[in-house]
Amino acid sequence: MFLQKTLAAYELKYKTHRRLLRSSSICLVLDMPQILFIHSSAFSSEIRKENQGSYTRKMSRILRESIRGRGVRVVERDVASKPPGMIDQSFVIAARTPPADRTPEQAARLKESDELVSEVLASDVIVIACPVYNFGIPAPLKAWIDNIVREGRTYTYGEGRNAKRLYGLLHNKLVVILQSSGSTGLNPGGSREALNHADKAVIAVFSELGVHKFEMATVEGVCEGAEEMLSASWLMCERRLAEIADRIKARWRDMHRAG
Ligand SMILES: Cc1cc2nc3c(=O)[nH]c(=O)nc-3n(C[C@H](O)[C@H](O)[C@H](O)COP(=O)(O)O)c2cc1C
Repeated sequence: MFLQKTLAAYELKYKTHRRLLRSSSICLVLDMPQILFIHSSAFSSEIRKENQGSYTRKMSRILRESIRGRGVRVVERDVASKPPGMIDQSFVIAARTPPADRTPEQAARLKESDELVSEVLASDVIVIACPVYNFGIPAPLKAWIDNIVREGRTYTYGEGRNAKRLYGLLHNKLVVILQSSGSTGLNPGGSREALNHADKAVIAVFSELGVHKFEMATVEGVCEGAEEMLSASWLMCERRLAEIADRIKARWRDMHRAG
């Protein structure tokens, strides 16, 4: 009887706690963590034959399969097959207009961006496929980034003494970068690292948006270089993906415990 009463009291307390948290931004983490996959390879399916298919899609699939579970919500957005609109003057002016003052046209102009931002805000982990295209990121991925960097939603400006200081609002999120390159030496610490702006661009933007935790898995030499080198690089990539999956699962376990 005593045990039943204690359990009932605990359940009530827990329910109230959850209700309170549901109204705050961390509710999603306690209810069901969401992981968002951003695909950006021009190839629509994963690599099976040499030079036909995407490595980053294969990396995403491996990671997804390793973390998938009953309590996880997986959201996939393929910006290569459905590229977000390019930003222009009307977008920037609409985004800089306070929401209450926006015209219906301005609100409509921001609709797609609002949806993309909401997806990011609702996610605890954001996995960004980052194929190296001409030493940078694919254009649709850049368009996605331009759409999710939004004042008042993913960043804000400080007030008072730091009036013009930008503050990122994506605290506590984890960003995972999956990078694949045709040549070698472009990875962090590589001999031609300085040439590659793909991973650096993603890290720079998300750091500015308040993200402090990054993970990265890479495969290199998928177009050039010796076959043995690619095999070794892929082996390391698979190990890294397994480590990242373990860390994500541990992160979610910790969050549930904390809740
Ligand atoms: C349009 C295009 C541009 C590329 N530019 C580069 C480059 O600048 N440097 C490089 O090392 N590899 C380059 N590559 C090779 C890709 O980085 C490589 O194929 C990588 O695996 C792409 O990711 P994915 O397999 O997920 O599509 C390029 C490939 C394409 C299709």
